[in-house]
Amino acid sequence: MKNIDKKSLANAYQLFETAEIDKIEIGTTKGLQQIHLYLFGGLYDFAGKLRTKNISKGGFRFATALYLQEILVKIEQMPENDFEQIIAKYVEMNIAHPFMEGNGRTMRIWLDMILKKRLKKVVNWQFVSKELYLQAMERSPINDLELRTLLFANLTDEIDNREIIFKGIEQSYYYEGYQKENEE
Ligand SMILES: Nc1ncnc2c1ncn2[C@@H]1O[C@H](COP(=O)(O)OP(=O)(O)O)[C@@H](O)[C@H]1O
Ligand SMILES: [Mg+2]
Repeated sequence: MKNIDKKSLANAYQLFETAEIDKIEIGTTKGLQQIHLYLFGGLYDFAGKLRTKNISKGGFRFATALYLQEILVKIEQMPENDFEQIIAKYVEMNIAHPFMEGNGRTMRIWLDMILKKRLKKVVNWQFVSKELYLQAMERSPINDLELRTLLFANLTDEIDNREIIFKGIEQSYYYEGYQKENEE
């Protein structure tokens, strides 16, 4: 792992080790920006800042930068009453992809905070396979059933279990190609 990614991973651990996570707004754009700033502050000059350029991945073009602010206002107003609604909101936020980089890692923490608040559950990411997850995310703008099924099967009510949270963070970085090396 590059130094920058190691530092970001350390920041992610710290977010949960300290009480900082409890200061973050849940389910809003501001909350998402707070998480991004925490993970990438001092590492990326755009930490916590909305992108102004258009980006795409695997042939999918995320929301046009020109309309990003308006889209985000709408997304944060989306309801969070049940699992289906929460995943629908998460999928829209992924389509918005508000940052130049770091969307996946930031958004998975954002999702867990909503699930914790509304359902008293979080995703046990360590058991969600990278391949199936990324496949479901690619599919999600067209149909979010695959994603819903995958994440629903891996919900846990052990929301304060440190090991589950920390393994989940590691898994989240692993999805994006950042793998912890054995310390020498
Ligand atoms: N083709 C795609 N269509 C929709 N979403 C995608 C696609 N490819 C990747 N994603 C989502 O984008 C995330 C990666 O976004 P990125 O900004 O690079 O985050 P990070 O820097 O944390 O890796 C993935 O975790 C996945 O959720
Ligand atoms: Mg990335």
